[in-house]
Amino acid sequence: MAFFLCLFIFFLASSAYACDRCVHQSKVAYFSKESSLASGACGYDTLALNITNGQIAGAVSSLFKNGAGCGACYQIRCNNTSLCSQKGARVVVTDLIYNNQTDFVLSSQAFKALAKEGLDKDIFKLGIVDIEYKRIPCDYKNNNLSVRVEESSKKPRYLGLTFLYQGGQTEIVSVDIAKVGSSTWRSMSRDHGAVWGSTNRVPEGPLLLRIEVTSGFRGKQILAQKEVLPADWKIGVVYDTGIQINDIAQERCSSCDEGTWPL
Ligand SMILES: *[C@@H]1O[C@H](CO)[C@@H](O)[C@H](O)[C@H]1NC(C)=O
Ligand SMILES: *[C@@H]1O[C@H](CO)[C@@H](O)[C@H](O)[C@H]1NC(C)=O
Ligand SMILES: *[C@@H]1O[C@H](CO)[C@@H](O)[C@H](O)[C@H]1NC(C)=O
Ligand SMILES: *[C@@H]1O[C@H](CO)[C@@H](O)[C@H](O)[C@H]1NC(C)=O
Ligand SMILES: *[C@@H]1O[C@H](CO)[C@@H](O)[C@H](O)[C@H]1NC(C)=O
Repeated sequence: MAFFLCLFIFFLASSAYACDRCVHQSKVAYFSKESSLASGACGYDTLALNITNGQIAGAVSSLFKNGAGCGACYQIRCNNTSLCSQKGARVVVTDLIYNNQTDFVLSSQAFKALAKEGLDKDIFKLGIVDIEYKRIPCDYKNNNLSVRVEESSKKPRYLGLTFLYQGGQTEIVSVDIAKVGSSTWRSMSRDHGAVWGSTNRVPEGPLLLRIEVTSGFRGKQILAQKEVLPADWKIGVVYDTGIQINDIAQERCSSCDEGTWPL
């Protein structure tokens, strides 16, 4: 009985800090060259601008997480009530920044979205503003998780895949490929940013994909239900995996979002 009571109290205590979205305080600045943020450390290249309408950000290493933080979505609001919009900006992480003053550097379009209608000039004049931010699920209703075959790919030695349209609020922790019809999975490893590369010879023929993402407090394996890469896969082409990720990985923090931010 005592054991179960302890377990129950432990459960209560741990769930008190379990949170979908922790709220953090920081500052942000902006970077006027959006294309260089887009083609930053995550490896998305200028495609990032198309996918996000230019709402992108570079993040410090604690958020970049050696690339696992690439593609994460954040809602960011500044706190000057006369200047700042209630909704703020919703950005996707595309780059790593080195900065001890701010957690993010935003594209100028995202920075502008922090301000109320018509006050763009005022926010650009400040250049750096106090913010609060939280991670939010990425929402790509019209696109499944997709992979772009990287330039460095070379049959049959190497296959590099960049993950695009990663929905939900998760991190990809492992990626395996197998020839369709085979049960021999071969692991890939994170090459850099959102780019994963084969560690072995690439199987010939059409390929299936299996990924593991963080979800809740654990991981979740997701298997593509169809061939992802055709036998004649080509560099630069984006292939649809048929997978929609909606999972949310739990965070632990003391300042949890209470769902009061407007969308
Ligand atoms: C991105 O959008 C621009 C302008 O709309 C277009 O010219 C370009 O081809 C797009 N790039 C990709 C990779 O889709
Ligand atoms: C905004 O937040 C910062 C840091 O939390 C604080 O120092 C500042 O006074 C706040 N500004 C306003 C206008 O509330
Ligand atoms: C808040 O915004 C107003 C309007 O742009 C500006 O005049 C003021 O200096 C800002 N306050 C702070 C603390 O940045
Ligand atoms: C931030 O970094 C700059 C340059 O690296 C350094 O001069 C400054 O002291 C640092 N500031 C803080 C608060 O650590
Ligand atoms: C996403 O995947 C589903 C299931 O495989 C498929 O029916 C749908 O057409 C895909 N959506 C897009 C935009 O390709």
